[in-house]
Amino acid sequence: MRRNFLPILGLLSLFVLGSCSAERDPKIASLKHAIGVADSQLLDAAAELDTTNCFPRSLMPKFRAVDAKDWTSGFFPGSLWQCYRFTGDEKLLAEAKKYTDRLEGIQYYCKGTHDLGFMVFCSFGQQMQTLHDRHSEEVIVEAAKSLISRCDPRIGVIRSWDFGEWNYPVIIDNMMNLEMLFWASKHTGDPVYRDVAVRHADITMKNHYRDDASSFHVVSYNDDGTVESQGTFQGYSDSSAWARGQAWGLYGYTMCYRETGDAKYLKHAERIADFIMHHPNTPADRIPYWDYNAPDIPDAPRDASAAAVVSSALFELSTMVPEAEGKKYFDYAETLLMNLSSDAYLAKKGTNGGFILMHSVGHLPADSEIDTPLNYADYYYLEAIGRYLSLRGLDPRRI
Ligand code: GLY
Repeated sequence: MRRNFLPILGLLSLFVLGSCSAERDPKIASLKHAIGVADSQLLDAAAELDTTNCFPRSLMPKFRAVDAKDWTSGFFPGSLWQCYRFTGDEKLLAEAKKYTDRLEGIQYYCKGTHDLGFMVFCSFGQQMQTLHDRHSEEVIVEAAKSLISRCDPRIGVIRSWDFGEWNYPVIIDNMMNLEMLFWASKHTGDPVYRDVAVRHADITMKNHYRDDASSFHVVSYNDDGTVESQGTFQGYSDSSAWARGQAWGLYGYTMCYRETGDAKYLKHAERIADFIMHHPNTPADRIPYWDYNAPDIPDAPRDASAAAVVSSALFELSTMVPEAEGKKYFDYAETLLMNLSSDAYLAKKGTNGGFILMHSVGHLPADSEIDTPLNYADYYYLEAIGRYLSLRGLDPRRI
């Protein structure tokens, strides 16, 4: 008889402890507030584009809405799904389904983009994680097929852009699209996707990285696979360290270690983390300037999107190494998360065009999206919140 009470007592204590977390811990209180802001902001943004086929992308100089073919189209639906899992708000669920549906045709879009991972895995991937539905799985496999069609086997990497002077440009951001390929191989049992991902990661590690573990942004290849050029398109200069590029690389190699167990990826991720965490140009609140070598530091704009990606990646990295080292990564990621959740970066409800975070940089050299909210800053910020709460054993619906 007594035994029957144990699960009930366990559940009760989880409820009591969980429901007290925010009152007892200011960090949890801050995240509880942030989740409330996110819920309200995302619904505002969804309402803004209700009767269109578009997605909110950024704000500066004015509200920028994009169509499904934009590289950022998957982030807004992905944020809706993540926030729905945090809150259980049925209005978010309805919007998440609606905005994900808008991306249906993108699975076949192989000609123009290498960003199918961002577009499909951040939207349908989040839908699959929430609903466990067969349809999302089918869409993702189709998108993975499209993505690998952009890999020339003579070169061994997935081509990024089809514009510009380069022969075969590959950008560090492309590391992020590999996660969908690893998933597709696990799901279908066909190693082809994973093989492309591993080769891409290996060649990128060799040619994108400098001795100090910082990364070029763009490496272009000749048709025989030799390097044509190494440079930086969205950063300050060819030899500088563009902040978001460092963040994409850290996240990408951490994910590659999770998916393969290959220690060389872990070592590489740790070297990138060291570069980021110990860079002398990192400001006191740790939210990086848009480029680590921006000439106008300390007046250069910050990039909250890079901080959000790094925070999320470091939470994962913290679980892959011995405890003392893991604590170092966890603490840094927590500092980033808490500072992003402060008034300096977190929007007030009803402001900021419906975006959650302020102060990111899209493409400064092109004079585009400077000191603005960005939908991908919001996406990775929510992911970082989810990872943080999970590592602390907390249920977002009970904090
Ligand atoms: N993938 C483009 C960017 O990070 O701005």
